[in-house]
Amino acid sequence: MSTLELHDIGKSYNGVTVLEGIHLRVAEGSRTAIVGPSGSGKTTLLRIIAGFETPDQGQVRLQGKTLADNGVWIPAHQRGIGFVPQDGALFPHFSVAGNIGFGLKGSKREKQHHIDRLMDMVALDRRLASLWPHELSGGQQQRVALARALSQQPTLMLLDEPFSALDTGLRAATRKAVAELLAEAKVASILVTHDQAEALSFADQVAVMRNGNLAQVGQPQELYLRPVDEPTATFLGETLVLSANLEHGWADCVLGRIAVDDRLRRGHARIMLRPEQIQLGLSPQPAQRQAVVTHIDFAGFVSTLSLFMADSHETVEIKTISREGISVGSNVSLSILGQAHIFAD
Ligand SMILES: Nc1ncnc2c1ncn2[C@@H]1O[C@H](COP(=O)(O)OP(=O)(O)OP(=O)(O)O)[C@@H](O)[C@H]1O
Ligand SMILES: [Mg+2]
Repeated sequence: MSTLELHDIGKSYNGVTVLEGIHLRVAEGSRTAIVGPSGSGKTTLLRIIAGFETPDQGQVRLQGKTLADNGVWIPAHQRGIGFVPQDGALFPHFSVAGNIGFGLKGSKREKQHHIDRLMDMVALDRRLASLWPHELSGGQQQRVALARALSQQPTLMLLDEPFSALDTGLRAATRKAVAELLAEAKVASILVTHDQAEALSFADQVAVMRNGNLAQVGQPQELYLRPVDEPTATFLGETLVLSANLEHGWADCVLGRIAVDDRLRRGHARIMLRPEQIQLGLSPQPAQRQAVVTHIDFAGFVSTLSLFMADSHETVEIKTISREGISVGSNVSLSILGQAHIFAD
């Protein structure tokens, strides 16, 4: 069963379309990530789901109940949806404990117990409870906002870039902790992020937003390996895109003959490989494609190599894990793992 269903959502501001034809289903207890460039409409969509913004058209349903439709409008506080906004938005005149306990009911002792538990859940030191929001770091503020949203035991949690103020190590750890916490509480969630690796690792379902549309929705691996088009492919990770001629499940391209994932397509097409599909060997094998390294851009873990291909006399740039034995002038051989993906257009 779906927790959330969005049907044909549209929104404009001052005659400018910000969202158009948005369809999305979020399964019970599942995790969805929405990724997309700045200004593509991610926050606007979350605000419509939360009830802070009205859609111009379309329907929002939560657990079968209509929240927004022509003439139907359930206000934000009656939706049972937790929202951690992009800027945290804590109440500045309430302490940390006051913020987290804002909507809690019960005796003073019960509330205190609940606040302690919520602070533990989001890994906030209990000693911070009496501080004011401005006395916290950006990352701590985000975790207070998360604890406050969790206190309402929502059926759906909306997270708008909740980890953006954390440094890389803490960010990964917090993301994992939040994912586990939401799974334990069986709360479905939608995470908005700019970070494709974060989206791919957090979510069961990834939705790629571009110019107010969802360009593609699917499982992380499916989107990563079979993106609908080139912008979606490059948005989700490093990509080698090549022009090719297709026939009977094979592509002829600058790298030679490569197996492709659609046997029926023929003629000219654009195909893609992920860098991990290209393996470089230092002892050239006769059956493999030969190339000479003409340039190396070293960037630590990965390097970008320019390779002059012996057969086609063309140069391709590939990203690869840096290796000490490869230098300008090295003869290398290439082998391709798996199949190249063909773009639809
Ligand atoms: N209240 C508003 N009035 C007018 N325009 C708005 C309003 N809210 C959003 N917009 C416009 O809608 C577009 C999408 O904004 P939105 O905040 O949804 O983008 P976003 O994908 O969340 O971007 P970011 O990644 O930078 O947070 C932008 O062009 C923005 O200027
Ligand atoms: Mg935003």
